[in-house]
Amino acid sequence: MQKRNILLIGFMGVGKGTLARELVRHDASLYAIDTDDMIESLTNTKIKKIFATAGEEAFRAYEQKTADWLAKNISNAVISTGGGFYKVHNLKAIGTVVYLKADFEWILQRIFNAHNAKKKLKKRPLFKDVDKAKALFHEREKAYEAVADIIVDVSNREVAEIAKEILERVS
Ligand code: S3P
Repeated sequence: MQKRNILLIGFMGVGKGTLARELVRHDASLYAIDTDDMIESLTNTKIKKIFATAGEEAFRAYEQKTADWLAKNISNAVISTGGGFYKVHNLKAIGTVVYLKADFEWILQRIFNAHNAKKKLKKRPLFKDVDKAKALFHEREKAYEAVADIIVDVSNREVAEIAKEILERVS
């Protein structure tokens, strides 16, 4: 079985899930999955609760378990990931790593202007404090770039246009 997965990485709120859903509209051979959703199904627990009770380290272990399973079992998928998923040790074994790059101000606007902003913030305990989130963003910027096969600028662009660019560049 040939492995053809697109792995979307990037900071919280950059639009990884939205773009995954857009990509499958453009390429019917692909299926969209999301690592946070997988972890919630696996544990039958919301991300917020995992952070609050088991802690961040336990959440990162679930991310690694998810990465191991994906690397072994999945092909023809667009996989949207949590903002810290890029740290798993076998990222490249899962598929082509696409970093969705945006500036922090744009991300902030996108999150707080969303009609379901409250819900979106719930699964993002690391975004509770905007100053801390900004520091984390700057801390991770270079690391995202370093692990990416492809870097795509997404600020102020239409999702359809970004999806087309990704499909052109991964094929
Ligand atoms: C996290 C990002 C979240 C979620 C968890 C941790 C992070 O996903 O996995 O709250 O470490 O950046 P999104 O990037 O989809 O918000």
